[in-house]
Amino acid sequence: MTGKQFHLGWFVDGFRAPAWNRNWAGTSSTDWMSGRFYVDLARDLERGKFDFIMLEDSNYVPDVYGDSMDVYLKYGQRAPKHDPAVLAALISQQTARLGVVTTVATTEVSPFRLARLMQTLDHVSGGRAAWNVVTGSNDRAAQNFGFDAQPPHDERYDLADEFISAVRALWDSWEEGALIMDAETGRYVDASKVHAVEFRGAHFSTRGPLNTIPGPQRHPVLLQAGVSSRGQEFSARHSDAVIATGGSIPRMRALRESIRAHAAAAGRNPDDVKVMFLAEPVLGETEADAAERAKRGQAERESLLDFGLSSLASVTSIDFAAYDPDEPLPLDLTTNGHQGQLNDMVQSRRPLRELAVGAWAGDPDTALVGTPATVAEKMEAIMAEVGGDGFLLTSLTPTRRYVTEIVDGLVPELQRRGVSRSVYAHETLRANLRDF
Ligand SMILES: Cc1cc2nc3c(=O)[nH]c(=O)nc-3n(C[C@H](O)[C@H](O)[C@H](O)COP(=O)(O)O)c2cc1C
Repeated sequence: MTGKQFHLGWFVDGFRAPAWNRNWAGTSSTDWMSGRFYVDLARDLERGKFDFIMLEDSNYVPDVYGDSMDVYLKYGQRAPKHDPAVLAALISQQTARLGVVTTVATTEVSPFRLARLMQTLDHVSGGRAAWNVVTGSNDRAAQNFGFDAQPPHDERYDLADEFISAVRALWDSWEEGALIMDAETGRYVDASKVHAVEFRGAHFSTRGPLNTIPGPQRHPVLLQAGVSSRGQEFSARHSDAVIATGGSIPRMRALRESIRAHAAAAGRNPDDVKVMFLAEPVLGETEADAAERAKRGQAERESLLDFGLSSLASVTSIDFAAYDPDEPLPLDLTTNGHQGQLNDMVQSRRPLRELAVGAWAGDPDTALVGTPATVAEKMEAIMAEVGGDGFLLTSLTPTRRYVTEIVDGLVPELQRRGVSRSVYAHETLRANLRDF
């Protein structure tokens, strides 16, 4: 083995049409609705021994950009979108070792409902369920659930802290050994091992006990993606893995070190909090071929400026249609949405146009463009410099062709270098995450 092993996850940007109008899209524009495309994707990822597939979610149709839903619906960008928990169940039935991460917002369900859903998913997956904890960011989502607006940014994390305490109390409401299944005495459950929790918080109350038994992991895995300072503190306290956008090596290293320091301050072993960085490799037959493909991808994104701007608008609730695309963003711009991302964009001092096509994340230090062999080598070098725990691979426009390039091209190179697993050592997601 050469380098240190690292983890691989895959980010699905919503249970929605993946690449409906592209070359190589095949039938994905119609078969996404049944889950077929994403089940195929998950089975491919399992062949590549990925740790997990992560299913994004949000519960609103945005209308921030240009004060209208038009651009979002035109591109199928945030809608139509199905509920990821159903897809998680389908994927669980068609895979055996891959972790399955479902996104649920703490402002959109009760702790009881979440606690029960995650235990059900942990059972049907045999201990592979994870919850991506999100706190909500857009007022339209809040309005779909009976509120006028989102609570202020840091308060949402306070609410989520309490939400998780209630969920964990419910998960612990069944002691180990509560299920006795004793056919002779006719007793299925030992009632002395099932307890009310009587959780009374400032925002959430639940009596308990949970009406279902904990799954193989007892507490399903938690993922989170907060990058603001409050977000990092929250993430380090609760998460098994923190997911973040990439950027330059110093940025990635500083973020990981900060999260590990927060974890230690919260009394946790920092090695139990994996930090994984979002990346979209561009692979080719030769270096020149890959560079040409990257150039074409960039040109395509530049030609779809409203797509990029509207996407940034929906997560920050700032109408970027009203800003000059050739100027950097004002230094005093703030948001009640995704703060870490907006700060990075403002501090970069790059013109809005570049931010919209994703150039702010595509630092030349860490761009993954090349043949499977050279990209694998670069991934190893980045992890060695960052001291990182892995990558969350993704594609803005996923096709079966792209997935094959990753799983059958890049992953075997990573395995050959000894930096990516060739066999799953454990049955549960948490055990696989903690393996290295
Ligand atoms: C890779 C990644 C995936 C995310 N997935 C979701 C998601 O599914 N739903 C959601 O509402 N927010 C999602 N977010 C947003 C985060 O939950 C969080 O709100 C955001 O990073 C801003 O956090 P901050 O304000 O603490 O910086 C994601 C962020 C990243 C980087």
